[in-house]
Amino acid sequence: MEKVVSGIRPTGNLHLGNYFGAVTSFVRMQEEYDCKFFIADWHSLTTHPKPADIRQSVDTILAEYLACGIDPNKATIYVQSDVPQVLELYLYLNMNAYLGELERVTTFKEKARQQPDNVNAGLLTYPTLMASDILIHRALKVPVGKDQEQNMEMARKCARRFNNIYGVDFFPEPQSFHFTAQAVKIPGLDGTGKMGKSQDNCIYLKDDEKTIKKKVMKAVTDCGPQSANSPKPEVIQNLFDIMNVVSSPDTVRFFDDKWNDCSIRYGDLKKQLAEDINNFCAPIRERIEQFSADKENLHRVAMQGAEKARQSAQQTLDEVRQIIGFHK
Ligand code: TYM
Repeated sequence: MEKVVSGIRPTGNLHLGNYFGAVTSFVRMQEEYDCKFFIADWHSLTTHPKPADIRQSVDTILAEYLACGIDPNKATIYVQSDVPQVLELYLYLNMNAYLGELERVTTFKEKARQQPDNVNAGLLTYPTLMASDILIHRALKVPVGKDQEQNMEMARKCARRFNNIYGVDFFPEPQSFHFTAQAVKIPGLDGTGKMGKSQDNCIYLKDDEKTIKKKVMKAVTDCGPQSANSPKPEVIQNLFDIMNVVSSPDTVRFFDDKWNDCSIRYGDLKKQLAEDINNFCAPIRERIEQFSADKENLHRVAMQGAEKARQSAQQTLDEVRQIIGFHK
């Protein structure tokens, strides 16, 4: 069975971007592939979180994975820091990664701008840690949103370079995977770019009805269409993009027609959007509460997953050590 790996950083709750960019694919892929889905807690250290916050966030994502339908009997669910083999591979890959190429990664440049007092080496080598997560299981497919494309390119580069240096055909080149024609990018509610935790423009899966409504009603819009059938500006297209994933095609068509004949009322659009987001999130929200309440179960799932992930990782590492010239 083809191998699949993906992960999410535990820096709060899952939002609609995480869900539609990645988690929906996880749930579908577990039926057909040998899947490993993890919680990238090492990656979250770039911002120096407090120990209690990490513990809490890891449990949160575990419960949310389960609530979304990832099934520990079908997929391996684990916490990255439970699999130390990843770090040994990270070291090897770092030996073959160059400062210039790491500095050119857009997310590194963005983060360096956002946190100028904390441009640490972990931030710089974020893509090689991500490559290790994937290559440690020799995975072929990686379900991720559009924002991860550059990191995926680096993962392929790491695989290629290792193979070239040692004259082997050991690591396959992993590919981004999505069921849609193109990689998904869910926009935020503030009219700028993607939905993301650090942008404070998210709707979280666990948000209650009132919170969802408040956030959606405050979403940025413009002064309305100026002529029939005009293209939508980005702020409006963003709302339609979210509508496209949570509402029925009829609802989208209804508001699209209203836009095209200039009779659209943004208040109505937002009310409908808030209602559809809430209908979508409500059952997940309920399950999040149930799974969060049973810490013992979360612990059990993570321990079982770690065991399986370590086995798979160790197999790769044994071969890597031999290829490099070390003892097994
Ligand atoms: P992270 O935690 O930022 O996001 C997790 C997943 O959610 C997707 N995503 C989005 N998709 C569409 N629209 C959005 N607005 C949106 N926001 C987030 C991301 O593309 C991602 O798939 N580096 C990764 C975590 C990671 C990883 C890995 C992923 C570490 N190692 C190995 C895959 C394989 C990250 O920061 O994702």
